[in-house]
Amino acid sequence: MFEPSFWMPESVNALAQGTDSLFMFILWVSVISLVVVCGSMVFLAIRYRASSDVSRANPPLDHLGLEVTWTLIPTIILMIVFYWGTRDYVRMSIPETDAMEVRVMGQKWFWTFDYPEHGIRLQATEELNVKNTREGRPVGLVVPVDTSVRLVGSSADVLHSMYIPSFRMKKDVVPNRYTITGFRATKEGVYDFFCTEYCGTKHSGMITKVTVLSKAEFASFVEEAQTEAESPIDGATVFASSGCAGCHSVSADAPPGGIGPALYGVFGRKEKLTTGNTIIVDENYLRESIENPIAKIVEGYGPVMPSYAGRLSEEELTALIVYLKGLGSDKEAPI
Ligand code: CUA
Repeated sequence: MFEPSFWMPESVNALAQGTDSLFMFILWVSVISLVVVCGSMVFLAIRYRASSDVSRANPPLDHLGLEVTWTLIPTIILMIVFYWGTRDYVRMSIPETDAMEVRVMGQKWFWTFDYPEHGIRLQATEELNVKNTREGRPVGLVVPVDTSVRLVGSSADVLHSMYIPSFRMKKDVVPNRYTITGFRATKEGVYDFFCTEYCGTKHSGMITKVTVLSKAEFASFVEEAQTEAESPIDGATVFASSGCAGCHSVSADAPPGGIGPALYGVFGRKEKLTTGNTIIVDENYLRESIENPIAKIVEGYGPVMPSYAGRLSEEELTALIVYLKGLGSDKEAPI
């Protein structure tokens, strides 16, 4: 575990353990490079000053060994940095399969956190942050300790960005697609959560907290929230009211065929497309297929689905995708 330092707050994310060492590595490589480059510069400037009587005859025009060295060493260093950084990035982007899911929606100028497995919704507005702090209640995003959490982010309007310095985590939330990141908090506590992309007048109002509770505290927090918090929109209702059922079956024993692909167990399924390519169904494919159905059509079906772009709100769209994801998975659809 990294202690808080001059540079950074304490690191409490088990998935980003390499970040601080990488930072120190880059820092020291930079310091050493600075000393070597500037030291040589100063040395040569003094040695070859105009009044120096050093010999200037036959200056070398090339030096293979030197050129190979100054190409090879930086290349190796950059490859180390690339590997080191990518490893943690991938670890955070592809969270463990048993991760608890939280849907994060950025919006001018607050955050909404939906917990599909618990059927609760938390919000982080400036007023709520102040109120919860005053009442001694958990603020902002609330998660249990030592639990993998998968954040699926989207935006209802402009570009926002989730930034939790203590988790060494930063991820943009972007309109019209989902971005995924994850963490596993190793220590209970309250940590800063910023919006770190300028998103308009009250960008600074999107500052909030991540509250990491013990597993028991989290369970009772959820229980309490289930009774009083606003619950997320029900995806099954959106599915029914949008007429999806006219073409798509959702039951396990649906007969093959139909106008559109059967949706039971659709999430994570490998589908062959009319183009011959294969895709794995994920959040972004579902989203694209709802908003722009003819973009990637499953083999055996026609381009007959109308676009739902603009007909569903960001919230409804996400609820619908949560619902589809729950079909046929062991994690039952919420509500
Ligand atoms: Cu949202 Cu800055």
